[in-house]
Amino acid sequence: MREGITFNDVLLVPKRSRVFSRKDISTKTRLSRNIELNIPLVSANMDTVTGSEMARKMAELGGIGIIHRFLSIEDQVEEVRKVKRSENVIIDEPFTTEPDKKIKDLVDELERYNTSSALVVNIKKERKYLVGIITARDLLFESSSTSTVSDLMTKNVITATPGTSIQKAKGILHKKKIEKLPIVKKDGELLGLITLSDIIKKMNNPNTSKDKKGRLLVGAAIGVNDDYTKRAIALKNAGADVIVIDIAHGHNTREIDALRKLKKLFKDDIDIVAGNIATKEAALDLIKAGADGLKVGIGPGAACTTRIVTGVGVPQITAIQDVMQVAKKHNVPVIADGGIKNSGDFSKALAAGASTAMIGSLLAGCKESPGEYIIDRGMIYKYYRGMASFEAASSKKKIDRSTSDGLLRVPEGASGKVFYKGDASMVLNDLVSGLRSSMSYLGAKNLKEFSKNAEFIRMTNAGMIESGPHGVN
Ligand code: XMP
Repeated sequence: MREGITFNDVLLVPKRSRVFSRKDISTKTRLSRNIELNIPLVSANMDTVTGSEMARKMAELGGIGIIHRFLSIEDQVEEVRKVKRSENVIIDEPFTTEPDKKIKDLVDELERYNTSSALVVNIKKERKYLVGIITARDLLFESSSTSTVSDLMTKNVITATPGTSIQKAKGILHKKKIEKLPIVKKDGELLGLITLSDIIKKMNNPNTSKDKKGRLLVGAAIGVNDDYTKRAIALKNAGADVIVIDIAHGHNTREIDALRKLKKLFKDDIDIVAGNIATKEAALDLIKAGADGLKVGIGPGAACTTRIVTGVGVPQITAIQDVMQVAKKHNVPVIADGGIKNSGDFSKALAAGASTAMIGSLLAGCKESPGEYIIDRGMIYKYYRGMASFEAASSKKKIDRSTSDGLLRVPEGASGKVFYKGDASMVLNDLVSGLRSSMSYLGAKNLKEFSKNAEFIRMTNAGMIESGPHGVN
């Protein structure tokens, strides 16, 4: 019988290092065959972790978020669109409204689309012609319930012509003391928008993950039942950069068939990541079916009860190492999914060969994670729940716990509250900072060198106790 090991069973042995400054370290990596990231972090496709807000933050800081699939196709598409719209220095499809719209309706829409201003347009033959701009400041003290957009909008809008460079746009924004610069053709047709906040964001985050058009990267999850092809097509059309087939047991003929079908349909227009798996046989089958990335993890997650309920799983370091034996030969990147409790675990997952790590519980409870705040005895929490938990299943449209043999389906996930952690950038910063330190201990300037230099050593329970703080109150 083989022995499987996980994060707390091992440590990384330090190596002779020539890395003097952490500035010399690169954390560049690949999520899948064609998607590059500046930091090896992916937010989990779970409904208490990744909606558009988390995905936006992940991409801004150099990683990527995968929008969960427990939404209608339309709602999931809208979450993808929200990310795609957010940080293009030139926004192709800016948010617009019409002059006769009631202000109270506009306020509702602005809130729904998480934006603070709108360009006002007249629509003729499906083309939009700019007639004004309305911003949060215009709405601030408006109390009349009958006013319309045309009553409050600014009419003489400063615009730029198509082809205006970012440099020139910056000059106009500065000189005219404005924050928004619509791109307009000579006849007034609206083609796009440049905003000061996007330019500032771009300057502050040189690591941001972007597509060819300069928009934030985003992924979206699908299943393998019912409407999965329709969902995948809609997500791709909305601009998703990668599709993640997310089922609990990815080494499954249904998933292999779905993957083949989607690869045939999309050719190489979009990367498809397949999972979850934990063996080299599964890796080979999914790679043969066309997987552009593999997601590894059967039961290591903080809210997983699969191993308790079914007795099935592979401890995560062994699962990554086994899958890597095949993935490396085929040059297919691996995502280590689940069980990461701190930056040490994150580093060990990458040292074992994974190209990125998917994070659930550590990112749950952040400002950007979906869900309400819960205040309990002076502490602030948010909910975190396994996608196979009873609570998650109950909130899906169909509550069907029955199976064909008449038995009740047993949940394979837990749920509960996690401490509110503030901005996700704090969590990401801790993880990446710890990783950089780990890389310097191993004398690695990049992640390839890191896994090459990695030598794991098993530790005993006494070693584990020694590894944490002790003797300090
Ligand atoms: P962490 O440890 O980061 O793990 O919270 C996140 C990963 O956990 C997986 N996941 C589940 N596994 N039952 C399971 O067995 C569940 O209900 C469940 N929900 C999420 C998933 O792979 C996620 O990315």
